[in-house]
Amino acid sequence: MAKKRLGLNIDHVATVRQARMTYEPSPLKAAILAQGLGVEQITVHIRMDRRHIQDDDVRVLKANLKIPLNVEMSTTKEMREFAIRLKPTKVTLVPEKKSEVTTEGGLNVIKKSRSIKTFIKETKKNKTLISVFIDPDIDMIEHTNKLGIDEVELNTGVYAEATSTESQAYELKRLQKAATFAKSLGLTVAAGHGLTTKNLDPILKIEEIEELNIGHHIIAQSIFVGLDYKIKEIQSLLNVKD
Ligand code: PXP
Repeated sequence: MAKKRLGLNIDHVATVRQARMTYEPSPLKAAILAQGLGVEQITVHIRMDRRHIQDDDVRVLKANLKIPLNVEMSTTKEMREFAIRLKPTKVTLVPEKKSEVTTEGGLNVIKKSRSIKTFIKETKKNKTLISVFIDPDIDMIEHTNKLGIDEVELNTGVYAEATSTESQAYELKRLQKAATFAKSLGLTVAAGHGLTTKNLDPILKIEEIEELNIGHHIIAQSIFVGLDYKIKEIQSLLNVKD
């Protein structure tokens, strides 16, 4: 099994801070700690309602991190303009609904073709890498490739939430098939959503997946064991070779 890169999603450090509208805990402090431990990427989702990560968080992370910053956002004009000003290493385009607790599924890249094309065109001069968060669906991957996008993040949320062995096995097969197909088209394959130490192992066996974005589980468990410990635990799983 090849080593996979870890993208640490630090949204929920900001969630705790926003609960009191105060200055702690600091997402930058978490990101710097992660960077020091060899985490390959920091991921944040700047949501339309700014429920956790704020514009300033993203600017401060961009100014202070040496490792790549991956900013998840919707395809709206407001977000596009933010990405143009910020020039992050990578933007992952995600669907967004006001009422959702977290991202509920992959982006429909067919329906959103027009806004994605504008996004790509207007961020090109900044050399921002555009990725899309999509369900493990062949049509979505084919269309992503047609749009000239180089990277996909496969949604592992349905797999993570599967309640029976059968449905989990079914979702794993979909992920494997999608990862193989995406890789055969030359796309870089990332994955994420809902991953924990309990459900990570089968995902690690999908060779084509190069990067995993993990947030809630790491931040939640770090309350008990510390962020340092939790990051090292996940890294040891990601580094295993057989
Ligand atoms: N990838 C994407 C595109 C996401 O929207 C999220 C959640 O913000 C994640 C990965 C991380 O998911 P989780 O917090 O469940 O690990």
